[in-house]
Amino acid sequence: MSQKFHHAASLLAIVFLALSFSQAQTRPVDAEGHQWWQDAVFYEIYPRSFADSNGDGIGDLNGIASKLDYLKDLGVDAIWISPCYPSPQVDFGYDVSDYEDIDPMYGTLKDFQNLANDAKQHNIRIIMDFVLNHTSPQHKWFIDSASSRTSAHRDWYIWRDGKAPGVPPNNWISGFGGSAWQFDAKTGQYYYHYFAVGQPDLNWRNPAVEKAMFDVTRFWYERGVSGFRLDAVDLLFEDPNLHDNPVLPGKNELGDPNMENKYNDKLPEVHTELKKLRKVADEHDAVLIGETYTSNRDELKEYYGDHNDEIQLPMDFMFCTVNKLSANDFRAQIANAESTGGWPVYVISNHDMPRSYDRYGDGKHNDQIAKLMAGMYLTLRGTPVMYYGEELGMENNDPVRKEDVRDPIGIAGWPEEKGRDGERTPMQWNDSPNAGFSAAKPWLPVPSSYHTHNVAGELQQPESVLQFYKHLLALRHQDAALLNGDYVALNQNNSNVLSYLRRYKNEAVLVVLNMSAIPQTISFNLSGEGFSQAKVATLLTTSTSQPIGSLEHVALDPFAVYIARVSR
Ligand code: GLC
Repeated sequence: MSQKFHHAASLLAIVFLALSFSQAQTRPVDAEGHQWWQDAVFYEIYPRSFADSNGDGIGDLNGIASKLDYLKDLGVDAIWISPCYPSPQVDFGYDVSDYEDIDPMYGTLKDFQNLANDAKQHNIRIIMDFVLNHTSPQHKWFIDSASSRTSAHRDWYIWRDGKAPGVPPNNWISGFGGSAWQFDAKTGQYYYHYFAVGQPDLNWRNPAVEKAMFDVTRFWYERGVSGFRLDAVDLLFEDPNLHDNPVLPGKNELGDPNMENKYNDKLPEVHTELKKLRKVADEHDAVLIGETYTSNRDELKEYYGDHNDEIQLPMDFMFCTVNKLSANDFRAQIANAESTGGWPVYVISNHDMPRSYDRYGDGKHNDQIAKLMAGMYLTLRGTPVMYYGEELGMENNDPVRKEDVRDPIGIAGWPEEKGRDGERTPMQWNDSPNAGFSAAKPWLPVPSSYHTHNVAGELQQPESVLQFYKHLLALRHQDAALLNGDYVALNQNNSNVLSYLRRYKNEAVLVVLNMSAIPQTISFNLSGEGFSQAKVATLLTTSTSQPIGSLEHVALDPFAVYIARVSR
């Protein structure tokens, strides 16, 4: 081969490589250039509680695999599985002792592979939970780290001398109560744990930690995983000088002083690290979902990255801080998310917060309100992340006795803080004992509402919460305006009814949500939005009185949802 030709060939190879790399980053799935995770509906599965295939009272991977038909039929495109790695279960899997295996209580790596293959057949992607801030003390890295001050892994965690005998290095408080520092008598130093004592923080300033953790993501990408939900990502870095945090007035629900986590939360280094993690994800056309607890729009915006080069889907928990049905507050939060310029991510419940059914329910119209909430967050512009059982109207089932509490937060905070067991109860599959979740006594008790709110029963009832979710998700997948349309807030002065258009080309979808307990009649003038002579056709409604004659007169029952197609 001539020198010149050789040169040209390698140039071609470089161009080809560059092309295929950039393609991996931006492989569009539709004419709008969307990527798969923009059109997908995500669904969080808490594996302990989803489906128990081997009768030990704890859910498992084979259980999940047995429910893929259900998930597909529901309209789910990707499942995020909360941690199922080997773990002492101090925080129910969020204390990982091996990132590259499956805990025997959930199955084996082979079971995972079977699940991944089955899921692929169903066109359902798998997202793993990446607990990257901390490990279990039983992880081999920590065992070595704690073995001596000079061990190979000593600097993989955050070890410091106390200020004085019996006095921790600084005033930082653990999210699980008490000091964030644990004294280790063997080596005479403290280690840092933002969460439980059984969750020592990794030292992300150490390049060896970074490399090992990036390799963990590669391990799962190679096994067919389509991305990660990044656990506690706000907390990856700490001020190396360990400044004390400013103390605020009052105490928190665990009895500790309130504190501004100025020196151990959302440090700028988090963003540098995320850019690197994203590069690895892009090589695999994968998505990163952030557990991002932001308190304002700028913080949320930052997580997307200046050049959309950090987290594709930072969850907007500010949306969940609206803890009552309030058209004004939701409108403001949607505007907030929209104003970041990023692709919004809407969540209304997860394994760390009381179920939306209770948070928004008024005790009398909870099913209508569950549909109302679905009518909102599944029609907004952005990606929704559902939580298992939300589609049934599953309710919280908080423990009533301290001895029944399993969650470390509930144990520390009882009785003011009952912990998170209530939102983690078994999935309600049918009306048989234990809601069809397990042949054995489940690890957490099912609430008695499973008699009325379960998959089998709700599939038989045309008006059930589940049927509503199914109709809505089907619509969302088919409708170009719901997938691609922009978000246009309407009638913004109405404090009872939240309304908006999802506008796309010559069509739009109108969404009207009555957030009040009183019937409402509203009138829309869409000429400013380009629909002066609009034709309207109902797509989905929970109102019993047929709401629409014309856009000038839309009548809605209490808590009703009305969704219509509007065309020019
Ligand atoms: C995240 C998880 C939560 C866990 C914590 C510590 O907030 O969602 O369940 O307790 O991280 O890993």
